[in-house]
Amino acid sequence: MTEKVNSLNKKDTSWSGRFNEPVAELVKKYTASVGFDYRLAPYDIQGSIAHARMLSERSIISRQDFAAIEKGLQEIAQEIEAGQFEWLLDLEDVHLNIEKRLTDKIGDAGKRLHTGRSRNDQVATDVRLWLRATADQVVAGLHQLQGSLLDLAEKHYDTVMPGFTHLQVAQPVTFGHHLMAYYEMLKRDAARFVDCRKRINRLPLGAAALAGTSYPIDREMVAKNLGFDGVCENSLDAVSDRDFAIEFTFASSLVMTHLSRLSEELILWSSPRFAFIDIADRFCTGSSIMPQKKNPDVPELVRGKTGRVYGHLTALLTLMKGQPLAYNKDNQEDKEPLFDTVDTLLVTLEIYADMMRGITVNKENMRQAASEGFATATDLADYLVKKGMPFRDAHEVVALAVRHAVEQNVDLSDLPLASLQKFAAEISDDVYAVLTLEGSLQSRNHIGGTAPVQVKAAIARAKKEMG
Ligand code: ARG
Repeated sequence: MTEKVNSLNKKDTSWSGRFNEPVAELVKKYTASVGFDYRLAPYDIQGSIAHARMLSERSIISRQDFAAIEKGLQEIAQEIEAGQFEWLLDLEDVHLNIEKRLTDKIGDAGKRLHTGRSRNDQVATDVRLWLRATADQVVAGLHQLQGSLLDLAEKHYDTVMPGFTHLQVAQPVTFGHHLMAYYEMLKRDAARFVDCRKRINRLPLGAAALAGTSYPIDREMVAKNLGFDGVCENSLDAVSDRDFAIEFTFASSLVMTHLSRLSEELILWSSPRFAFIDIADRFCTGSSIMPQKKNPDVPELVRGKTGRVYGHLTALLTLMKGQPLAYNKDNQEDKEPLFDTVDTLLVTLEIYADMMRGITVNKENMRQAASEGFATATDLADYLVKKGMPFRDAHEVVALAVRHAVEQNVDLSDLPLASLQKFAAEISDDVYAVLTLEGSLQSRNHIGGTAPVQVKAAIARAKKEMG
């Protein structure tokens, strides 16, 4: 972007008549937003054309003026796309830059574009149009990642791994089951964006500065033309609230929360201590000093960038807090956090979908870890309950058996029948079926359970809902 500072004289600014001295240079820089809001340009143009079309349909401007405005704006869109548009800091923001260029191109017709409109309803419209398109991109990105999780889960629907609570081996699960937990989280995330989109997709235009306008406008026509589901029903609310942006950033924060959890696990699992998985080299870097290292940089950065997105959520909430109705310049500060949230989220989703495809699993190590932490102790307690023992008693019996096994430095399934029977006479030969990892997995055979048949069924359902 080229910035030409202070190249215009006073009468070129849109509100200059009221002022006795030009805005101070530093203030100009401080208040200008064109350095970042230029990326709303395509939506600004789309909104302006719809507004002008309505003005001409309602005979507020002439058909000829509309034709000139439409043609001029389309040319400006091309200039911007081709990188030939000169953005001027003196013109403050994307809206005034485009309007000034239009007027330079087509004269008085360009000056009529802003009839019945304010930058307040204009900017709210632009942000909503942009965020609506962005929400769709986020949902597509989430689906990509869900798809790669599903593919990996399918390969490992029966791969045994230790399930953890308190990061201690708890009960065996399958790796596929573990991955499907993240599928579920991302499914809710996608639903949150779809839902949030409904509240984004309302038209502020027509609210003008804050109170509406005296021209005989047709807001429904503009809404329909721009693909909005309806209009914002209160003009003061339309120009001032940014709750839809906050909501979007909250939904983004939750995605990052979920990905930070998975990242933490990928970091642990790929460390030589766990050695459960290997992350493809293209997602890792080495150390400049320690030749043996392969660092999981991408998951670490995702974990780190989560904080950055939370920061944007806090920024937006704080920005809105205590603002009196209606529009205040504070709201100009909504854009950078929002833009950075979107940029961070979209690239994170893209890289993550690819990274999950590049994960290889060390089944042996996963299995070994599952067999080391008495992961089937609960199964032994359940076995005793099925033989008639109250659960609390069974819990105590198994605790004693585990203690004995720890002392002997063996697994429960390594204890001979006679020594197991010392803890409970109910135990017989069939106990070994429940003490195995496979037996434990298979017994959790209900919807939501980790039995491989259930994991397979969950994957099939997921594939169906993804279409
Ligand atoms: N650049 C401004 C923003 O982002 C546009 C609206 C300006 N409105 C005003 N009354 N100064 O919010």
